[in-house]
Amino acid sequence: MTRYTSTNDERESALQKEYIKKASAYVANLEKSLGRKPQCCVTTFGCQMNARDSEKLLGILTQIGYVPTENEEDADFVIYNTCTVRDNANQRVYGRLGFLNSLKRKKPHLKIALCGCMMQEQSVIDKIKKSYRFVDLIFGTHNIFKFAELMVTMFENQEMIIDIWQETDQIVEELPISRKYSYKSGVNIMFGCNNFCSYCIVPYVRGRERSRDPKEIVREIEHLVADGVVEVMLLGQNVNSYGKNLDEPMSFAKLLSEVEKIEGLRRIRFMTSHPKDLSDELIEVMSRSDKICRHLHLPIQAGSDRILQAMNRQYTKEQYLSLVDKIKTAMPDIAITTDIIVGFPGETLQDVEETIDVVRRVQYDNAFTFIYSKRTGTPAASMENQVSDEIVREGFDKLLKVVQDTARERAALLQGQVMEALVEEVNEQDSSLMTGRLSNNMLVHFPADETMIGQLVKVSLDVCHGFYYTGHIIS
Ligand code: 5AD
Ligand code: SF4
Repeated sequence: MTRYTSTNDERESALQKEYIKKASAYVANLEKSLGRKPQCCVTTFGCQMNARDSEKLLGILTQIGYVPTENEEDADFVIYNTCTVRDNANQRVYGRLGFLNSLKRKKPHLKIALCGCMMQEQSVIDKIKKSYRFVDLIFGTHNIFKFAELMVTMFENQEMIIDIWQETDQIVEELPISRKYSYKSGVNIMFGCNNFCSYCIVPYVRGRERSRDPKEIVREIEHLVADGVVEVMLLGQNVNSYGKNLDEPMSFAKLLSEVEKIEGLRRIRFMTSHPKDLSDELIEVMSRSDKICRHLHLPIQAGSDRILQAMNRQYTKEQYLSLVDKIKTAMPDIAITTDIIVGFPGETLQDVEETIDVVRRVQYDNAFTFIYSKRTGTPAASMENQVSDEIVREGFDKLLKVVQDTARERAALLQGQVMEALVEEVNEQDSSLMTGRLSNNMLVHFPADETMIGQLVKVSLDVCHGFYYTGHIIS
């Protein structure tokens, strides 16, 4: 078996810091010729992992002298951090690239970079080389730590720079990161996935599972806490198999216990759990913790055993349900959310009924429902019995209704209770209100002011509005 160790590559980190200096000189020249600070815009598609990667890109960009902007039209450098888990994410990128082309015609010094999961697919690279010649830089998921170096190469060359790696065992720590939120942060604990669910492209674009050294993780979180962070989200495609391939193996539950000890850290979340690897030890650590949030995202994907087997999920409906029972017995107040795919090859409406049965029995607090998307290169893509659009639509609509009804019922149960909320941001519709997040991941809006952002407050959940609450702070 190949071992993918996770030693911090200190030499690489030092090298990249040199490239950061070199890139700064190019940006300084650009600033001179523009007569103002150059602006950059990083657009993220997809999951929390990508969001975290974008913070790393932005960290380097700001360090070399760019000023971030949310508006692509103002930017001198635009970067799309792409997702390819479903085809509609790819289509959105192609659509927006057309717009970038028109921007670049008006502003020839505009630089355009593409990175992330979509770039790990050869067919995508071929298409960009052929039809989107105006793109300046393309890199993938494995060499994002080389971003400064790639920028330097881009500044020194006129033609399109493409650098895609198939795999890596490097984990480069301590490069700059620019966080989106002052009070909360994602923290990668592992990269890649070894599960090969038959519909999923992630193992092909994110590579094999590699865990970060627990000491590095704890050190990063300690620094974050010193910098004002009170909540961390531990990120991995399958956090429950954390540490299995480390030189000194360590369980995810043990890692959580270590993270819990960090003083000043108030809340811990994690994402995503594969049901097949969720241990009793984890349930125990969670249930006696007052920092680990009462929320578990536990993707079921489908309720029919036949489909689960074809998906290579490695559990049955009953095994999943008894796992949920065990979790709910240990933590009656836990919120459980899930991911569901409708329309996997061979899935009938009868199979969807099995999924609906699971939704009713588990009583999910929320469920993300997806229509199956055929991903070239995955085993499911070559299965013959692809489902017709009408059948998919019918199953999907029926499922969605049950999902929404159960989520509403669950939310209503907490109306009138007082719970702790982390004050996150000003309410988008009404600036006299702030939005807070409960331990169970639900949102509550209440009168307060901006100075409270990042604080944990007790809030009475006065009115449930289906998927969120309005309330007031209890002093
Ligand atoms: N089609 C539809 N949904 C998918 N997901 C992953 N691959 C596909 C696919 N090919 C969903 C799964 C996963 C979530 C992140 O995306 O539900 O849990
Ligand atoms: Fe994809 Fe399955 Fe890995 Fe999740 S566990 S990333 S669904 S292969």
